[in-house]
Amino acid sequence: QDSVPEKIDYVFKVVVIGDSAVGKTQILSRFTKNEFCFDSKSTIGVEFQTRTVNIKGKVIKAQIWDTAGQERYRAVTSAYYRGALGAMLVYDITKRQSFDHVARWVEELRAHADSSIVIMLIGNKADLVDLRAVPTEHAVEFAEDQGLFFAETSALSGENVDKAFFILLEEIY
Ligand code: GTP
Repeated sequence: QDSVPEKIDYVFKVVVIGDSAVGKTQILSRFTKNEFCFDSKSTIGVEFQTRTVNIKGKVIKAQIWDTAGQERYRAVTSAYYRGALGAMLVYDITKRQSFDHVARWVEELRAHADSSIVIMLIGNKADLVDLRAVPTEHAVEFAEDQGLFFAETSALSGENVDKAFFILLEEIY
């Protein structure tokens, strides 16, 4: 874990988006608390968590916003995206549909977020290797095409979660 800082140089707002049940909330709790909860409930409304990290000698407080992927809870948009410097756009590597919807999420970002927002495409649940439905190459291609960063993560094992957030935060910085 990172040491408790004396003073914060910057606060970076990051939003986590993607279809319901792809693991947005779990990725967030892995990054902020190094926890994984097996009986997590669907998110209702909007929540945020923070973690303070060191990036290139500066103390950065990452304020990470999580919202429900389910349409019926999504009265948000503009307010949710306001001031966001980064976005984690998550799909589930075992759910083809969640990847097919990524283009729509990118459109939503382009419509509501600042045009300079840094976007990281995340293929989560990489631990479920036998259930993979989205080949890595397809996601790499899509990310390159759209100018997004890309990583495959597992909130369950923790694989690549910190790395993905650090890449995003460094890029924002
Ligand atoms: P909404 O709040 O409905 O938008 O869902 P969400 O995207 O926040 O998903 P959530 O984090 O609640 O996770 C959904 C389910 O996937 C839960 O049962 C998690 O335990 C499971 N899950 C999340 N991440 C992983 C992962 O990396 N690997 C595996 N095997 N399961 C995961």
